[in-house]
Amino acid sequence: MTTQSLGVAVIGAGMAGKAHANAYRQAGAVYAPTLPDIRLVSVCDLNGAVAEEAAARFGFERHDTDWRAIVDDPSIDVVSVVVANFLHREVVEALLAAGKHVLCEKPLSDTIEDAEAMAQAARNASSIARIGLTYKRAPGIAFVRELVQSGRLGNVLHFSGRYWTDYGAHPDAPMSWRYQGPNGSGALADVGSHLSYVAEFVCGDMKNVSGARLSTTINERPRPLGAVVGHTRGGVSDEMVPVENDDYAGFTCEFEHGVGTLEVSRVALAHPTSLFFEVFGTKGAARWDQRSFAEVDVAFHDDPDDVVGYRTVQLGSAHPYVGGGFPIDIAGVGHGQNDQFVFQARAFLEEVAGIPEAESLPRNASFDDGLRNMRLLGAVVKSHEAGGATVDVPVA
Ligand SMILES: NC(=O)c1ccc[n+]([C@@H]2O[C@H](COP(=O)([O-])OP(=O)(O)OC[C@H]3O[C@@H](n4cnc5c(N)ncnc54)[C@H](O)[C@@H]3O)[C@@H](O)[C@H]2O)c1
Repeated sequence: MTTQSLGVAVIGAGMAGKAHANAYRQAGAVYAPTLPDIRLVSVCDLNGAVAEEAAARFGFERHDTDWRAIVDDPSIDVVSVVVANFLHREVVEALLAAGKHVLCEKPLSDTIEDAEAMAQAARNASSIARIGLTYKRAPGIAFVRELVQSGRLGNVLHFSGRYWTDYGAHPDAPMSWRYQGPNGSGALADVGSHLSYVAEFVCGDMKNVSGARLSTTINERPRPLGAVVGHTRGGVSDEMVPVENDDYAGFTCEFEHGVGTLEVSRVALAHPTSLFFEVFGTKGAARWDQRSFAEVDVAFHDDPDDVVGYRTVQLGSAHPYVGGGFPIDIAGVGHGQNDQFVFQARAFLEEVAGIPEAESLPRNASFDDGLRNMRLLGAVVKSHEAGGATVDVPVA
């Protein structure tokens, strides 16, 4: 039984909130028209000017400044929660209690305790709760996963991944929620949540982590003079505020088959957002780099000796999401991170509309997946605290 019409709202209209608002607007335009009527009802942000601009820009009917207006509006069915991590729990629990379908941004929260409570709330809910581990929707990453799962790369030998960003590279980058919270809620949670999810998405579950090191490299930051949205820099005061969490994290891990190294940073100058990884198997290797989003490099052992080496494959109609998804789906047209949010929104709306998974995109990650991801990151923190000791990743 499919739904006739769905009302949508986005709470938080900062950097990622705008990507969600845009994604709901575009979701009907990827693939054939299977979605019910999507009503873009409200964009909500504590900052009224930000909410108003985003609502107008992405074609929503209205804006709100209090998220409780979204909870209380019976015409809203589907809500993205795109505020700071420490706010996720309160907002998500109220939305689920009101029967809304919730797509919450990663990481699930800033503490394991809150994440556990949220996962329990999702299990008890009558509505659907999903988490935006968005890189699942990168066509290149989905393709590399297919190469591993189909056996074309053989058994995984090792994975090497980095997610480097530079939003904190300048000592004058203003204090924001990203720099506050327990150790591990910094770069590790912000971009390490994505990288560790991608590592498991491609290679399977990690059994344990070891050799972890977290480091705060810039210990205080200036208080901003105005609102900080996303990674923007702006006017700052002379007053310095202590940085509470990690700028850098690195660790090794063991999968069922193979091992890996992962490294994340928010102080890697000249890398605005660079997730890249390489996976080596017994039959071949593959690598993906966010800076060449629509390409994957592959190499195979059974190529003739004199031409063994990486070749670049441009992603097109033969590849996940691109084929049939984009209006022009031939290789070379290109796509990027904003498109991931569109496929994510499409998958969520189709699930809410009651379209079976076999006729839809793979479902978004569950809150239990989000909790596992937080437990994995928690194991990394424990390894760091124990001088790099091996720590098992808790099974849910
Ligand atoms: N999937 C991705 O690729 C991706 C990328 C960036 C951020 N994120 C996630 O999205 C979330 C938000 O990150 P961001 O970079 O957009 O943050 P941001 O700081 O740019 O935006 C947050 C917005 O929330 C608003 N806000 C604060 N308190 C509020 C409240 N009580 N009610 C309503 N609005 C409120 C702020 O005014 C701000 O505009 C985080 O969980 C982050 O981890 C995900």
